[in-house]
Order: sequence, then C-alpha cells, then structure tokens
Amino acid sequence: MDIQNVFVIGAGQMGSGIAQVFAQSGFRVILHDMNESAVDRGINSIQKLLLRAVEKERITEENKEAILSRITLSTDLQDARNTDLVVEAVIENIDVKKEIFTELDKIAPADAILATNTSSLPITDIASVTNRPEKVIGMHFMNPVPVMKLVEIIRAIQTDEETYETIAEVTKKLYKTSVQVNDFPGFVANRILMPMINEAIYTVYEGVATIEDVDTVMKLGMNHPMGPLTLADFIGLDTCLYIMEVLHDGFGDSKYRPCPLLRQYVQAGWYGKKTGRGFYTYD
Ligand code: CAA
Repeated sequence: MDIQNVFVIGAGQMGSGIAQVFAQSGFRVILHDMNESAVDRGINSIQKLLLRAVEKERITEENKEAILSRITLSTDLQDARNTDLVVEAVIENIDVKKEIFTELDKIAPADAILATNTSSLPITDIASVTNRPEKVIGMHFMNPVPVMKLVEIIRAIQTDEETYETIAEVTKKLYKTSVQVNDFPGFVANRILMPMINEAIYTVYEGVATIEDVDTVMKLGMNHPMGPLTLADFIGLDTCLYIMEVLHDGFGDSKYRPCPLLRQYVQAGWYGKKTGRGFYTYD
C-alpha cells in the first residue's frame, strides 16, 4: 500500500517529533490536537528544531520551508477522512485511546492503517474497538524522535502481513531501523529499560549510592549517553511509574514491582524535567 498522507494525533513532544520526521521524508502530514494552543506549541517546537538544523548547515533554508509546507494543522478529527495512515500519540490511557480509535475508524478511509505510538498499552485491545483490527498496529518511536533511530513495530494478534510490511517500508523511508515485536506488556524497549530505571531508583532508595553516583556508574561504566535517573527525569517519572505498573499487572510478577520512592516522587508531583523537579532540578 502506498502511503502519502499521514495524520498525527497529539502535538506533544512525541507527536510533533513524529510529524517532523514524516514531513522531512516527503510525506504530507496533518498534525492534530484538541485545541489551537496545543498544535501551535507542536509546530513551534518543529520550527525551532528545523531552524537549529539550518544554523548547523544540516539543511538549507529552502529545505526547512519545504518541510514546513508539508505540515498542516488541525483541531478536527474529521480531517482524517483522506489519510492513508494515522499515527496516534496522545496520553497513555487505554480508555482515551480506545475512544479515539473508535472515532477514527468511522472517519478514516476503510483501507487506511491506524497506528498507535503507545509505549506499553496492548495494541490487541486497541485494535478490538475498530472494524479493521487487521489494519491496526503499534509504531513506537523513541524520544527524542528526530534523533533516535529505532521504531518498534508491534503486531497485535489481529494485525495482517500487509499492514506490517507497509509500516516496515514506511519506517525505512523515515531513515529509521525497525524491529518486529509481538504484543506483550512493555514490548521490548520498555520491558528492558524500565526495570533498569526502577532498579536504579531502588539503589538510591536503599542508600547504596547517591543519585549522581548511580548515574555516573551507568554513564562512564556502561557508556550510556545518560544515567538512568537523568533518563527517568527526561522520560517523566509519571510515565516510568505507569509503565512499571503495566509490566507488574501484565505479568503478575513481583520482579516488576515499582520502587516505593518512584511512587512517592510521583505523588509529590515531581515528574522530572517537565515539572522542574525529579531526581534533579531544572530551570
Ligand atoms: N529533540 C530533537 N533533537 C534533539 C533533542 C530533542 N529533544 N535533544 C537533543 N537533540 C539533538 C541535538 O540538537 C543534537 O543534534 P546536533 O548534533 O544536530 O546538534 C543531538 O541531539 C545531540 O544533542 P546534545 O549534544 O545536546 O546532547 P547529547 O549528546 O547528550 O544527546 C540525546 C542528547 C540524544 C538525548 C542523548 O543524551 C541520548 O541519546 N539520550 C538517551 C535517549 C534515550 O534513551 N531515549 C529513549 C528514551 S525511552 C523511550 O523513548 C521509550 C519510551 O517509551 C519511554
């Protein structure tokens, strides 16, 4: 199936990054969110990153304008009526996602693929609310989307081969590498990453080492670009807790129990970079 028009739902950090990489690869993109201030924030962040790319002479001013001309903004879900592919990147809440997919199923053309960027929710469950479950798939980008090379492509139990092949091809056109993953809690990325972050938090909780020293061990000892606690702040501690709970509930195994300190930080509203305080403080 030939994909040309892409509808991205959610203009937050992930959605705007996804819209940017599609537009950079020549796709026409509609970036949607519920209100104008949200879509404006999304397009502003894309403009800023493209401007930086021009300043670093990675792209020309003309390239930047061409990329931006391929992105239009929308606050109306009905604008998905001519799309070939939808990529949903809204809040990680199964009820919200199911509601959106139920609506989208009525609006998008019958042969359009409906993808979700969920980082851990069951694609099989989301697919089940549509009349085209074989065309529903997970397309999990990593943060920051314009930089990170990986996309986890998650097959719901209902996803057909053609849908998978189409999304694998599209991912290549975005200059990203994909891996094929079956629909189990946390997929691959978060099943491995989140227990590592959770264990780093336990290490601090049990007084084994300081926050800074735990990060230094993983940065200098393992060559990770960021220590796990810095990364947790960057992802959002609320998101980290949420994903640990998905793993804990999904597998019923105590090895995935969220660290009490993580829970406490989230209760305190210390979500990391986005709220100015997590394991570190931010201006
Ligand atoms: N958006 C776009 N570009 C960004 C960016 C952002 N938020 N942050 C940094 N960059 C770009 C910079 O512009 C820079 O590009 P140039 O070379 O063109 O200037 C490049 O990335 C390197 O940035 P910096 O030199 O400022 O900093 P750095 O070398 O530390 O790199 C980083 C930043 C790429 C984020 C790096 O620290 C890193 O790889 N960190 C780990 C990221 C990671 O693990 N992501 C996965 C998170 S988990 C996830 O996404 C899954 C989930 O479901 C939770």
